[in-house]
Amino acid sequence: MARTVFVNGEYLPESEGKISIFDRGFLFADGVYEVTAVVNGKLVDYGPHMERLERSLKELRIDWPCTKDELLAMHLEMVKRNDLKEGIIYMQVTRGAADRTFNFPKESKPTLIAFTQVMNLVNNPNATTGVRVVTIPDIRWARRDIKSVMLLAPVLGKQEAYEKGATEGWMVEDGFITEGTSSNAYIVKDGKVITRELSNSILAGCTRRALFRLASEEGIEIVERKFTAEEAYAADEAFLTSASQFVMPIIEIDGKRIGGGQPGPVVRKLREIFLEEAGK
Ligand code: PDD
Repeated sequence: MARTVFVNGEYLPESEGKISIFDRGFLFADGVYEVTAVVNGKLVDYGPHMERLERSLKELRIDWPCTKDELLAMHLEMVKRNDLKEGIIYMQVTRGAADRTFNFPKESKPTLIAFTQVMNLVNNPNATTGVRVVTIPDIRWARRDIKSVMLLAPVLGKQEAYEKGATEGWMVEDGFITEGTSSNAYIVKDGKVITRELSNSILAGCTRRALFRLASEEGIEIVERKFTAEEAYAADEAFLTSASQFVMPIIEIDGKRIGGGQPGPVVRKLREIFLEEAGK
């Protein structure tokens, strides 16, 4: 079944979803995006995703393309029209189309597009086996707190990881792990979860935020601080989080086995409680 996509207020068959070649998202990566998971036909962590969108738009001084109510209605309509039970909704706002100038054009109106992708989020087989990651240099810009569509560094990093037999690259800057190319990074030592503190160096993950709340309800301590690859090699467990992977166990970093090469008890518990909530 061809998907229904959303382009500037219209629901269209995917083959008809088109934007201008002058769109600044296309020419300058002048735009922001959000990826929201859908489980059992329901949006997961929608509120936090839209809070983050609001912040990203404000930081880049891009106008809202519609009202918040309209954006929620669009998400719900996309789930309905695509009969989406499990997967993601991708949405993107750019500064719009105008003649090419670096400074903000006066006449452009924001472009809003969205599409769905069916994905196996809950029973993702990777979650049973765990995944491999490799460390790579963090070559991104200095405002990673903004969820911008300027994703060339993550594209190259993820490709490098795949070519090395891993599914994610953990990026390293000044000797410390920042985050994954499209996920936040965690290790577990002596029952405590360690993850980098929020700053302009990483994206404030919505899954990370949910995890903090659920871990605290479960009595699992999370310590926010930087960690190195060497510390990660010696960790009891490691994992990553994102809207499209939820809580994903890591069993190998740079070819070194973590926790005996099996998903450990803390990450299994955290994934279980995350899924319980997401499925509601
Ligand atoms: N990526 N860090 C980066 C660099 C990311 O791109 C993402 C998400 C995250 C996790 O954020 P969240 O938990 O809100 O998904 C952290 C999405 C999934 C993507 O680009 O596809």
